[in-house]
Amino acid sequence: MKYGKAGIPSLKEVYADSFDFGTAVVANEVLDTDRMEFYKSQFNIFTYGNEMKPDSLINIAACKSAVRKTGDETAVEVKFDRCKPLLEWAAQNGVKVHGHTLIWHSQTPEQFFHEGYNSTSPLCSREVMLGRMENYIRQVLTWTEEHYPGVIVSWDVVNEAAADSGRQLRQSNWTKVVGEDFINRAFEYARKYAAPHVKLFYNDYNSEMTMKNLVIRDILSSLIADGTVDGYGFQSHYSTSSSLFYIGVAWDTVAKLTLNDGTPIRLRVSELDVGIPANTESNWKTQARFYEDLFEIYRKHADQIDAVHTWGTTDDLSWRRENYPLLFDGQSQPKLAFDAITD
Ligand code: GLA
Repeated sequence: MKYGKAGIPSLKEVYADSFDFGTAVVANEVLDTDRMEFYKSQFNIFTYGNEMKPDSLINIAACKSAVRKTGDETAVEVKFDRCKPLLEWAAQNGVKVHGHTLIWHSQTPEQFFHEGYNSTSPLCSREVMLGRMENYIRQVLTWTEEHYPGVIVSWDVVNEAAADSGRQLRQSNWTKVVGEDFINRAFEYARKYAAPHVKLFYNDYNSEMTMKNLVIRDILSSLIADGTVDGYGFQSHYSTSSSLFYIGVAWDTVAKLTLNDGTPIRLRVSELDVGIPANTESNWKTQARFYEDLFEIYRKHADQIDAVHTWGTTDDLSWRRENYPLLFDGQSQPKLAFDAITD
């Protein structure tokens, strides 16, 4: 067996009665058939780490020539070559995909915000930017649904809009060009063009910080009033020194939000990893205990959780690989943390 280990429990099966269990993958992993077979034995929902972000989907050169040709500054051209492999594989293998992410301040070409798609030209007007936003969201949602019907079950519509300090939004090109309602407009367009079965999430990190938690709830309440949001994604990039107490409090406060139809807000763990300072046996044990306690919180809120996704599968491919934060080691063998949550 090249990846994984025979006879170990399967995360998606252990949690089948509670929520989907997912992971994030990048382009190279999807090309490795054996690796994907191993992932399929553990997970039933997948997210692309980078390949569905704006900088992967917006075709700046084509946008430029479209504006030049038509004179329409709101023209947006997209390309799907980078995100096709996972969608193709998911369709063939009957697994779900969570889309990540439509609107974000990061990994979005600077030119997207400028007249003529030239970063040296002035920023667009609010009207033009809203036109681009709507055209972008429409094309991404309709193309993916048309070519891979039913595969994408949910989307992060906006990622990381809350500021890291103060009761305010993060200042970004989006707030600068559109204004603070860019989040509401993104969800409005997403709702307009998403297939009815597709759930729309707001996604953010550090929701256990008191002030940021307030901002996140401000954002969610405003979207709930608009009737455009289904749920919140807790990114959940932790280390073993993170406060489980405050994480639990954050879950309790967000879970209390109710949608307009009276049902509780949907929740997801969108990017879970738990770093350790060094790869030692005693740290593995601490990490296993942390994961175990975290899953106590998830079990408590299980009826509101759509899915728990780890942000990657094996430590060697993690964005935080020097902190060994995942459930499988670099040889794709299950770690103590895996045992702790599958026992
Ligand atoms: C954030 C983003 C993810 C990813 C990680 C770093 O959490 O939401 O898409 O970029 O940072 O890997």
